[in-house]
Formats: sequence, C-alpha cells, structure tokens
Amino acid sequence: MQSTQSKIITSATSYFMSQYTKHYLHVEKPSLGLPPPPEAKKYLLYIHVPFCTMFCPYCSFNKFTYTKEAATKYYLHLRDEILHVKELGYDFNYLVIGGGTPLIDEEELIETIEFVKKLFSIEHVSCETDPNHIQKETVTRLKGLVDRLSVGVQTFDDALLKKLGRYEKFGSGDEVYEKISSMLGILPITSVDLIFNFPSQTEEGLKRDLDTLKKLRPEQTSVYPLMTSSLVKNSVKKTLGAFSLENEFNFFRVIKESLKESYPSRHGWSFSKENDLIIDEYIIDNEEYVGVGSGSFSFLKDTLYLNEFALDQYASLIQEKRSAVTKERTFPANSQMYYRMMVDLFNGKLSKKKFATMFGENINDALSKELMLLKFSKAIKEHKESITTTEFGDYLFLVMMKEFYMGMDRIRNDARKNLTL
Ligand SMILES: C[S@@+](CC[C@H](N)C(=O)[O-])C[C@H]1O[C@@H](n2cnc3c(N)ncnc32)[C@H](O)[C@@H]1O
Ligand code: SF4
Repeated sequence: MQSTQSKIITSATSYFMSQYTKHYLHVEKPSLGLPPPPEAKKYLLYIHVPFCTMFCPYCSFNKFTYTKEAATKYYLHLRDEILHVKELGYDFNYLVIGGGTPLIDEEELIETIEFVKKLFSIEHVSCETDPNHIQKETVTRLKGLVDRLSVGVQTFDDALLKKLGRYEKFGSGDEVYEKISSMLGILPITSVDLIFNFPSQTEEGLKRDLDTLKKLRPEQTSVYPLMTSSLVKNSVKKTLGAFSLENEFNFFRVIKESLKESYPSRHGWSFSKENDLIIDEYIIDNEEYVGVGSGSFSFLKDTLYLNEFALDQYASLIQEKRSAVTKERTFPANSQMYYRMMVDLFNGKLSKKKFATMFGENINDALSKELMLLKFSKAIKEHKESITTTEFGDYLFLVMMKEFYMGMDRIRNDARKNLTL
C-alpha cells in the first residue's frame, strides 16, 4: 500500500508536471524546416508510419485508416523527405520505425529500410508492429534488416482484449502467445509491449500477464502505465470504464518484483534480459533525433520541430519540395536541465559530470531547490559523482515521464484538430 505521505507527494508531482508541460510543451512558431546538422555526428532517425487497420481506444499516436493506395503514396513522399534530410548533410547510425503499424505494408517497409541503409551509416534498426504481422515468413524476411521488433500485446487477458477491440482483430491472448512464440529467435531482439493499470485490471490479472510474459521469454519488454491524455480520456472511459490512479503505485511495484530475476536490467518502463540490448525509447535515450513522416517530431540542440500531421498536406509539402516541418519551439536552458534530470533519473541514475558537460553548470547549483525537494521526498540519494533513485523515486520519475508523454499528446491534439481519420 502507498502511504498517505507518498500519495500526497505523487499528486503534487503530477500536478507540477502537468503545469510545467502546459507551460512549455506547445509548438506554435512557424518553422522554415530543419537546420543543417549543427554538429558532424551520427544522429537517430525516426520514421513514422501512420496507418492502422483499427484504432485502439487508448492510443494517441498519429494514425489513419490503412489503404494500400494511401500507404503507397505516403511511402513515396516519405522516401523523398529522407532524401531531403540527406541533402541537408545528416548522417544516422540508428533507425527507429514506429507507428501506427509499420509492418502493415511489408513491401514498402522493406524497400524503405534498404533505402535508408544505402544512404546512411545505420548500425541498428528497431521497428514496431501489431500481432497481426508477425508470421514466421514475414519476420524471416526482416532478418538482417531489423535488429529489434517490438510487438504490441498490451495484455494477454481475453476479457480486456475484447473491451479494447483487439481480440477480434489480433486474436485471443493464447493465440498472440503462440504467434510470438513461433517467431522468437528469428531476429536478435523481440520485445513485447504490455500496458498496466487498465480500468478493471486486478493485481491477479496483472500477475497473470507477467507470468505469461516470463513463460514466453522475449529478450525485452516495455510495460507502460496506461496514459490517459485528453486525446483518449473519453474513449478509454467509454470502452474500459472509469480510470483511476489508485493501484498504479502498487502495480508498478508488482511489475518490478515480478521481472527482477528474468529481466534484471531496467530502463524506466523497459526491462531486458541483458544489459546491452537496445531500447526503443528514442526520445529518452537520445538527446537529439530527426523525425520524418507525418506527425513526427525532431529535437536538435535546443529546439523541437513538428512535422505536418495531415496526409494530404504532408504530400503537398513534399511535392512542392518544401520541408514537412511546419512548426518549432526553442526551449530555455532551465527547461532543458529539468528535462535532462527527469530523463536520467527515470533511468535510475544521473551523472553529475555528464550534466556539467552538457550545461556548463554543476547540478547542485543549477537545480538546488529541485534536488532538495526530491531528497526531502525520499525520491533520490546523492553520491559524490552521481544521483540515484530510491524505490519510491523509481515510481515518482515514472509519474513524471508519464505526464511528459501526456504533454506531448497535447501537441498532437492541437495538430490533429480538424483531421479526417
Ligand atoms: C504506437 S504503438 C504501436 C504498436 C502496434 N501498432 C500495436 O498496436 O500493437 C506502440 C506502443 O505504445 C503503447 N501505448 C500506446 N498508447 C498508450 C497509452 N495510452 N498508454 C500506455 N501505452 C500506450 C502500446 O503498448 C503500444 O504497443
Ligand atoms: S495501439 Fe497500435 S493498432 Fe492500436 S491504434 Fe495505436 S498504433 Fe494503431
């Protein structure tokens, strides 16, 4: 059970973060497009594939109904945009393909990965999929092209899958288990996405999901807390029932306890069997990245850039040889410091030296009040060269990260107003 004191601290932190993201996370300034690379280094490239055959009630990512025709047209423009980024002078060593459902059009996806690999110094490729596109033959075609495939499972519980509409589309929990089981080992890393704290989910139900996952033994798993931004709040309530934070703390403890032996390496809400496996939280692990495709974000130096969301507008921009980036926002130094602290402590450890190198200031001077509050809340422990999280801190930083993601949804919400899906 969470103590009253830690409940109060959690609520206050949540409130602070929602105010903070309201203040900082909006992107309104018209943009002329990405600048040439500010540094001669290799960046991460994110490709967004915004197509799905169904829309899940909790999902706020930029997506449209899949048709072969729309996808063919989209991929043509996408590859043009990638060429434009190449012409600007960027090089990439890491490719992340997210969605939507990137594997929805296998041919176009494969052609695009090969295209990117020819243009840039790619060393790792990570890709998302739903459970419909993981037949052995499909995954075998990805061998040598994709290093990590993350499969959205969300839950193995049939009653929940039915409420989510996924049972009909992707099969029962047992069927999804069997499908994943028969493709494990084909690619270097298979990861399974689960979500916890669905309305009506019980501790026993969550434990069953975790036991099933451990029996399946994929190399990696991400177990996300359900995020209910304004974009999805109503659809979650309508399909799943009233959302509550009552169990979230306890559920996160159950997850850490259950996975600590089979998946000893924890990275925020991602868990790996081994330490050196790649993780696809590109926003978290990479200080800078370039996003291409409709509704993607780029972050370079101190500025967030936003690509056009609407498919027809995106196509027009590319055809007219204009940048798909339409808006941008530059962040002041203090907000970048907060962000860095949050992200590093979400992963459990902040290096004081790295912080000083990034910002030219000692964290104890720059964020003295914040560190004092976190120490007072028993969320962090200070060491000579680093700051680490306590058990309670692990949860508190998950709460902050969740609020941050929901803040990003506010940007998506603004950008998707008036769109036809
Ligand atoms: C963009 S989705 C793509 C996955 C794939 N299309 C599928 O449905 O299986 C990537 C992952 O984000 C997570 N996700 C999406 N919406 C979420 C939410 N509201 N709260 C927590 N996790 C969420 C899910 O676990 C999902 O598998
Ligand atoms: S979870 Fe996957 S299938 Fe469902 S709407 Fe989001 S991207 Fe599409």
